[in-house]
Amino acid sequence: MVIGAGGHAKIVVELARSCGFEVVGCLDADDTPRFVVGAPVIGRDDMASSLLSNGVRFAALGIGNNRVRERIGVELEALGFSLPALISPNAVVSPSAEVERGAIVMPGAVLNAECRIGPFGIVNTSASVDHDCRLGIAVHIAPGSRLAGSVIVGDRAMIGVGSAVAPGVSIGADAVLGAGATAIHDIPSNTVAVGTPARARATR
Ligand SMILES: CC(C)(COP(=O)(O)OP(=O)(O)OC[C@H]1O[C@@H](n2cnc3c(N)ncnc32)[C@H](O)[C@@H]1OP(=O)(O)O)[C@@H](O)C(=O)NCCC(=O)NCCS
Repeated sequence: MVIGAGGHAKIVVELARSCGFEVVGCLDADDTPRFVVGAPVIGRDDMASSLLSNGVRFAALGIGNNRVRERIGVELEALGFSLPALISPNAVVSPSAEVERGAIVMPGAVLNAECRIGPFGIVNTSASVDHDCRLGIAVHIAPGSRLAGSVIVGDRAMIGVGSAVAPGVSIGADAVLGAGATAIHDIPSNTVAVGTPARARATR
């Protein structure tokens, strides 16, 4: 079962299938009957526990918003669902990389030696995470972005599409690195940073 029925849910449904799961359906706040790349929307989010009692054991998070994804991941685990890490067969993953529960790794992603992707994280299409990086809970590394070695990304931070982070830089919790930015210095928690070099321009 996939939680969510929007654009991000589409890629999660297809990822789950490519990992060998049959997707029985999606749950969403809007339960209007429809299909998400062939998976039916079968009810609202609060139907999760009845699916569990009907024998559905696995859940995946099709929600892009980091804070909401973390909250729902924790709730699903408390109900008793298992949230496996989903790693595309078309990702390149070092044998020493660690991908924690509920995290997803999309096609074209590269995870290098001894990096760690925290619970409920997203390493999106063609993003790369190099050696010794540490990603917290519910981080999103957007498509085509690149983390050099030993980068630290705090919980729920968002690394925007096509951005880059220099070696050893820390991105604070709940920070956003804007699309196309290049972070060469640490980015404080709860800030939005854009440009090259990236500068914090707002507090969230
Ligand atoms: C940084 C970001 C979060 C800002 O969003 P926002 O707060 O809605 O900002 P706005 O669109 O109102 O833009 C505010 C100003 O910042 C500028 N700006 C916004 N994003 C920028 C970026 N990535 N780089 C440089 N400047 C940017 C805008 O041009 C605008 O400048 P102006 O005031 O001179 O006109 C957003 O633009 C962004 O880059 N998001 C990343 C999205 C992404 O990668 N998603 C992945 C989904 S898979």
